[in-house]
Amino acid sequence: MDFIELARRRYSSRKYKSDKVEDDKIRSILEAGRLSPSARNDQPVRVIAVRSQEGLRKLGEACNIYDAPLALIVCADRDRTWTRSYDGMKTTDIDASIVTTQMMYEATDMGLGTLWICMFKPDVIRKNFGLPENMVPVNILAVGYKDDETSKNHGVRIPMDEFVRYE
Ligand SMILES: Cc1cc2nc3c(=O)[nH]c(=O)nc-3n(C[C@H](O)[C@H](O)[C@H](O)COP(=O)(O)O)c2cc1C
Repeated sequence: MDFIELARRRYSSRKYKSDKVEDDKIRSILEAGRLSPSARNDQPVRVIAVRSQEGLRKLGEACNIYDAPLALIVCADRDRTWTRSYDGMKTTDIDASIVTTQMMYEATDMGLGTLWICMFKPDVIRKNFGLPENMVPVNILAVGYKDDETSKNHGVRIPMDEFVRYE
């Protein structure tokens, strides 16, 4: 599918069917994430693919994933992340968000619904999934067969002339 069409079709799904996501689809989603670029090619991002009943229960203590059968916890190692020398900015969140974005669109391309989640309790994620201090849980991507047809903000975007300034 044309990328712009894919981007138009995607929306945040907050209702999922109970069907599991097939293993080959999970592998494709993860491969799309693994292929992501990262600053200096440091590749600091790691993903925890949560699909077991127990894993989903542990995740449920940290956030609402709207009963999605699969959730990808996208973490980045801040000790392995590139740092901009001019101001100390680290690309931890950026690198993790590129991985999240690529996985989100691969899932969309395969007809799956997704929800990008930042509203989670990081301390609970750390405790329940045994993350060391240097691993930052940045995003959670819920994935599954969607049981809704749109979202309240689907397609609601600022106009192009507000979005861009040419100089
Ligand atoms: C960085 C980021 C964090 C988000 N966190 C949440 C969240 O915690 N919970 C939620 O329901 N939606 C979350 N969303 C989804 C946004 O609310 C949604 O993308 C936005 O309203 C546009 O709607 P659409 O994705 O349906 O086009 C998040 C999206 C992004 C990009």
